[in-house]
Amino acid sequence: MLIDAQTQFNFIIGHPLTHSLSPSFHQALYQARKINAVMLAVEQPNLSDVVESIKTLGVRLTAVTMPYKTEILSFTDAQTPAVEIIGAANTLILQGDKLVAHNTDIDGIAYALAQIDLIHKKCLILGAGGAARAVAYVLNQNNAQIYYSNRTLEKASGLIEVFGGKVVGLESFDHHEMDVIINTTPVDRVYRFAPHQTVFDLRYYPKETDFLKSAKQAGCNIISGLRMFQAQANKQCDLAYGEDEWVTQ
Ligand code: ATR
Repeated sequence: MLIDAQTQFNFIIGHPLTHSLSPSFHQALYQARKINAVMLAVEQPNLSDVVESIKTLGVRLTAVTMPYKTEILSFTDAQTPAVEIIGAANTLILQGDKLVAHNTDIDGIAYALAQIDLIHKKCLILGAGGAARAVAYVLNQNNAQIYYSNRTLEKASGLIEVFGGKVVGLESFDHHEMDVIINTTPVDRVYRFAPHQTVFDLRYYPKETDFLKSAKQAGCNIISGLRMFQAQANKQCDLAYGEDEWVTQ
């Protein structure tokens, strides 16, 4: 990578960013697409200051990760319809003097699940936070039957109002009926899966979680969060630089 006077810098904001793959993965994308840019990790909790910096310095692309995906929306000028429905953004694009919020997690999730025909499939989402909302959005668009399980049941009920589906308590629930099980929580728990199931863990650190390991042992089709991560980062790059625009140095 050659840094020169033309090198443009993008941000990733979040906390902690220690295990974030975004800076190195974006670097690989920029290199492949001949884009003269770098992505810098910014762990600044004052989002108002961050947004001011983005606008002052002309930062074209900002990746947003936990815990700022919802809070950042108070500081943006516009948002896509999907962001409005989900209530969370993972990408900010500076368009002129306007900061526009996008959600490319949905593109990553759709890509990760593209191998499965989701129509009328029973899909269980573990968790009911921002990531779960993005998953529910994709499942709803694909006419899947959605089930939610979450530590705080009321939070899961809130998702039904927007995306449809049912809330289930895991203890009393035979999850072997499910076709697809998707973990959106930080909890790495081992399950007793059935071999017909597809199991997707949104996390990509560690590369193979205990959750996915137990699914693999049960003979399930497993999908790593890395697949989603790479697809969402590709989409971020497309939004910032255009799908076919190959910027030369
Ligand atoms: P994200 O944006 O990644 O979805 P989030 O909005 O903080 O992050 O949501 C995290 C999800 O993981 C929530 O559903 C949370 O459960 P609660 O709604 O009960 O808070 C779930 N979660 C986090 N820590 C958990 C734990 N120790 N046990 C069970 N669920 C947990």
